[in-house]
Amino acid sequence: MRYLEAVQCKIKELKNKDRIRILAIETSCDESAAAVIENGRKIISSCVYSQIDLHALYGGVVPEIASRSHIQKTDLMVEEAVRNSGMRFADLDAVAVTYGPGLVGSLLTGVSCAKALAYMLDLPLIPVNHIEGHICSNYLTWPELEPPFLCLVVSGGHSHILSVDDYGKYTLIGRTQDDAAGEAFDKAARVLDLPYPGGPRLDELAETGDPHAIQLPKPHTDGKYDFSFSGLKTAFINAVHQRKQKNEAINKADFAASFRETVVSILSEKTCEAAGEKNITKIAVAGGVSANKRLRNTLHEVCRKRGWKLYVPSLSLCGDNAAMIGSAAYYRLRSGTIADLTLNAVPSLSLFDNMLDNAENQSIILPVK
Ligand code: KG4
Ligand code: ZN
Repeated sequence: MRYLEAVQCKIKELKNKDRIRILAIETSCDESAAAVIENGRKIISSCVYSQIDLHALYGGVVPEIASRSHIQKTDLMVEEAVRNSGMRFADLDAVAVTYGPGLVGSLLTGVSCAKALAYMLDLPLIPVNHIEGHICSNYLTWPELEPPFLCLVVSGGHSHILSVDDYGKYTLIGRTQDDAAGEAFDKAARVLDLPYPGGPRLDELAETGDPHAIQLPKPHTDGKYDFSFSGLKTAFINAVHQRKQKNEAINKADFAASFRETVVSILSEKTCEAAGEKNITKIAVAGGVSANKRLRNTLHEVCRKRGWKLYVPSLSLCGDNAAMIGSAAYYRLRSGTIADLTLNAVPSLSLFDNMLDNAENQSIILPVK
C-alpha cells in the first residue's frame, strides 16, 4: 500500500517533468539487457550480454541454461547501464521490464529484478510487450517517425504485418500461420550445417550465391497478408536431401541465396501490397530479421520506386536489447499503463489483446490521470 501511494505521488511529479528517464530491463530469451532511455527517444546507455556462446553447443536456446545465465548477468547489466548513464539510481523516473512474450524462466528473472528495483526506489513499474519493444526500436533510430505507419515485424518467434495507428495502438493485418521468418532462416541454416545462430550466417553466405539457382515454392495462405514458411522450409530440406542422396555436390551459397530470396520476396511483396491497399506510405521493419541485408535492400528499392519512406532500425537495435523496451515504456507511461508488484510473466502475451482484458494481467493498473 505504501508503495502504491508513493508511486501515485511520483506519477503526479512526472507530469510536469521535461525529461523522463526510464531504466529498462529485457530478458525474454537469450540476451540479458538493461538500458536508460530519455523521453522514449534518446539512448543514455544500453548494455547487452548475449548468451550465444552458451547455446551454440546445443544448436539452439536451452531454456534452463538461459534462465540460469540471466540470474547471473541481469543485475550486472543494470549496474553497468546506470553507471554508464552517469546517473544515480535515485535519479531514475521509472523501471520498465519485458513481461512477455518469451521463455517463462527467462522473463521471470527480469520481472523479479525490475520489481525489486521499483519497490526499493518507489518508482512506477512499467510492463512492456517484447514485440512492441521491437517496433519502438525505430523511434530510437528515427527521431521524426510518428504513427501512423505500417510495420513488418519479423523475429525468431513472430511474423506480423500490422498498422501502428497511434503510440501503443496496433491493428493486425497479417501473421504467420506456422513458422516465424527468423525460425525458418534458422532451420534452413541448420540443414546447411551452418553454426548457431543460423539466420545471420545464412544471410552472410547468401551474399556469394545465385538467388535463382534453386526453385522454391511460395506457399499459399488463406489470409491475403498472412505468411506460411513451413512448406517452403520442407521443400528446401527436401532439395538438400535429394542432392545428398544422389551424392551431388551442394553449393551452399546458392542454396542460402535462393532461400533468402524466396523469404524476402514473400515478406516484401505482402508488406507492399498491404501498404498499397491501406494507403500507408510510411513503412517500418522490426525484429531480428530486420538485420537481413537482402530484406533491407529490397524494401529500400521498392519504397524508393513508389516514393514511400522506409524506416529500419540501426543494426545494433535489430536484435534483442533493453533500449527498445525503454522507448515502448515511455509511451506506456504516458498513457497511464503501470503494473503493481504482483506482475507476472506472460509467455504467450499478444500485442493485440487489450492488456486490461487479459486475465493473467490483473496486476496492470491505471493510475489516476
Ligand atoms: O528479435 P530477435 O533477436 O529475437 C526474438 O525476439 O525472436 O530475432 C532473432 C531471430 C533469429 O531467428 C535470427 O536467426 C534472426 O532473427 N536473424 C536473422 C538475421 N539476424 C537475425 N535472420 C536473417 N538474416 C539476418 N541477418
Ligand atoms: Zn526479439
